[in-house]
Amino acid sequence: MNVLIVGGGGREHALAWKIAQSPLAPRVFCAPGNAGTASCATNVPIGAEDIDGLLAFALEKHIELTVVGPEAPLVEGIVDIFSARELKIFGPTRAAARLEGSKIFCKEVLISAGVPTAGYRAFTDAAPAKKYIDEKHAPIVVKADGLAAGKGVYVCTTDDEAKKAIHEILVDGKFGAAGKHIIIEDCLPGEEASFLAFTDGEYVLPLASSQDHKRIGDGDRGENTGGMGAYSPAPIVTPAVHEKIMRRVMQPTVDRMAAMGAPYRGVLYGGLMIRDGEPSVLEFNVRFGDPETQPLLYRMKSDIVPLLLACIDGGLRGRTIEWDERPSVCVVMAAKGYPNKYPKGMEIRGLDAPLSDAFIFHAGTKQADGKVVTSGGRVLGVTAKGATIKAAIDHAYAAVKKVSFDQAIWRSDIGKKAVKEV
Ligand code: AMP
Ligand code: GLY
Repeated sequence: MNVLIVGGGGREHALAWKIAQSPLAPRVFCAPGNAGTASCATNVPIGAEDIDGLLAFALEKHIELTVVGPEAPLVEGIVDIFSARELKIFGPTRAAARLEGSKIFCKEVLISAGVPTAGYRAFTDAAPAKKYIDEKHAPIVVKADGLAAGKGVYVCTTDDEAKKAIHEILVDGKFGAAGKHIIIEDCLPGEEASFLAFTDGEYVLPLASSQDHKRIGDGDRGENTGGMGAYSPAPIVTPAVHEKIMRRVMQPTVDRMAAMGAPYRGVLYGGLMIRDGEPSVLEFNVRFGDPETQPLLYRMKSDIVPLLLACIDGGLRGRTIEWDERPSVCVVMAAKGYPNKYPKGMEIRGLDAPLSDAFIFHAGTKQADGKVVTSGGRVLGVTAKGATIKAAIDHAYAAVKKVSFDQAIWRSDIGKKAVKEV
């Protein structure tokens, strides 16, 4: 069977690595892929947003399963376009992908489904939005409605900051069409967790829990990033919290989408805030998380391909996922300057060093003149397992020491939160 993975980051390397191990012995292609996917798949020089190019390739190569990594092509409707040509593709339709593509739509679904989420108001004009800040006051969260490459959320600690954010989005047009509307949301206290689940539009099959580290610096300080590391499982998601998330968040959302005539198929990623055992939705993503996918798939023992196919064809009910009991941790090595401007093209050394209970997923890497060089902000996802979360952390940082490139940065406290909780 021929499988195409769309994207070229750490998440896609983890997907390619896992799918390539399927007993179904698939031939895996990755578009555009990176230097890591080149070792378990064939890279194809087509961008993740070039839907016409991807479609032509899938038809020509008789691709039997396409798995989409990033949100942009999903929100653009790649699933509708492939399905219309009878190509099997994992992910939500354009209508269902609005859960991530529009924060206003997401809120409307959450409210109508009775799913707990922060109170909010939507605005199109700056003046009433700023007036609302004068009524509600900071701390408060301002979010661009549309996709803004992970930069559209402002967690504001002062009223001035919030008004500046409103101005940037609605008046200066910082995010273009994605910032035509905003929501202003109450700031929720608590601890975050990522909860991913497969769904065929009706049945919800949860993956193991995980937790991301969104800030650039140790101790959750500094700017928000795509994610500087993750671990799985997340101890904050106790069995009781897990049950609540399934009953109060995931199932009602999937049911509501089906009732609205936009059944959600694929992986649904709930970004949750958990306080006193009560989950609340901060956002939904309509795809696998990055870097959460790296520790998750490193722990997944089941063959992923039949699960992906069951999401597309129906029949997820009755399936289970077997997990390695051992916790896993992924430490992201990034280029200095990320999430803003950073240099590229630095040679990466030590990638073939022997590792114990660890694997290096590539993100922003490429091959050049027989070497592997950096080509993005997040460069590597060094992922490890251990008998305890502490052992997994030690294995991950031991592996980090073996690889190097100029101006590499990483957080030194990935997973620490989980150690405190167990
Ligand atoms: P997002 O880009 O939607 O993942 O949001 C980025 C980060 O902003 C989240 O991971 C949270 O840390 C934070 N955040 C978003 N919404 C809220 C909220 N209502 N209350 C507190 N923090 C939030
Ligand atoms: N790690 C956060 C995300 O994938 O959106």
